[in-house]
Amino acid sequence: MNVRAKVTGTGMDVPDRVVTNAELEKYMETSDEWIRQRSGIEERRWVTEEQGPADLAEAAARRALEAAGLEPGDLDCIVLGTLSPEADFPGTSFFLQDRLGLSETPCFDVRAQCSGFLYSLAIGDSFLRSGQYRRVLVVGCEVHSTGLDVSTRGRDVAVLFGDGAGAAVLEANDDPEDPSGVLSVRLHAQGKYARKLWLEAPGSALHPRFTQEMYDQGLHFPQMEGKFVFKHAVTRMPEVLLEALEAAGVKQDDVDLFLFHQANLRINEYVANSLEIPPEKLRNNIQRYGNCSAAAIPMLLAEAEAEGALRRGQLVSLTAFGSGFSWASAVLRW
Ligand code: COA
Repeated sequence: MNVRAKVTGTGMDVPDRVVTNAELEKYMETSDEWIRQRSGIEERRWVTEEQGPADLAEAAARRALEAAGLEPGDLDCIVLGTLSPEADFPGTSFFLQDRLGLSETPCFDVRAQCSGFLYSLAIGDSFLRSGQYRRVLVVGCEVHSTGLDVSTRGRDVAVLFGDGAGAAVLEANDDPEDPSGVLSVRLHAQGKYARKLWLEAPGSALHPRFTQEMYDQGLHFPQMEGKFVFKHAVTRMPEVLLEALEAAGVKQDDVDLFLFHQANLRINEYVANSLEIPPEKLRNNIQRYGNCSAAAIPMLLAEAEAEGALRRGQLVSLTAFGSGFSWASAVLRW
């Protein structure tokens, strides 16, 4: 039997600080009603002064390792998806590697924004199937809150995002009796829309990368054409979901659980309706966490597993869309 990448443990972490829509009303002209109606979000988590991405990533990683019954030293590689790294370079994964007490385990960040976890999963899956590694930790981690314009100027973006991390341990499965593993991953991108959802500065294309003027213009905050993003998300997500199912050789009705990126509950409802996915096969947590970009899908996986909603032998379909544009879908036999 060919080697399959089996998820043997999942974990997540979010900061303790809960930021409700009512709290945001204090900082900007917005309302709980507007935010709920447009996005489904009720609250999100923000880091406190002393917390950073590596703190969240470490906690999620340790929980995933414990669930898998492994020690950090058992890992062959760490792949971490993020758009909000601990530092612009080297990213977050290197800080995580050090926190885990690892001295030379290879690690790197993947920059595929909200599709970052699925891109990282594809890389981990390839490492295992090629035989290069046996155990890969795949992480999604974001701290958005330190980079949001929490004034009325930035309200269209700031109310949507939250902080969090999720992790999954992938292990090589070559047991012919055990069907668990990644069955397919399909990745797509469309760079012509890179500026529809992006963070312009600091940027190495700018000379210099950052100036007071850029700061005054707020170019260090994310910019988004919301309606444009929405339209593309609801088209691309069903497309790639069906493509991944076909590549896995499974029927839509056979899937037990559909987990979508958590950018907007309305996007997910739209996608679910267009594919006629029954509500009992869907899980969302954006109501509690907002959009945690690359962390959203592994956070959902960890919650679903912890709550018994995702069990061994079940089929799970994962789908994401985000900045880049990037979009992706995977099918796993749990
Ligand atoms: N509170 C109150 N009003 C707000 C607001 C806020 N937080 N943000 C924007 N508004 C206002 C706008 O200024 C606009 O006012 P105007 O009509 O007077 O100009 C009005 O609300 C409507 O804004 P609009 O942008 O048309 O709303 P929308 O229906 O497109 O919803 C989003 C906005 C962002 C919720 C929606 O476009 C969306 O979810 N897009 C996709 C986002 C996404 O998925 N991003 C991440 C991908 S990974």
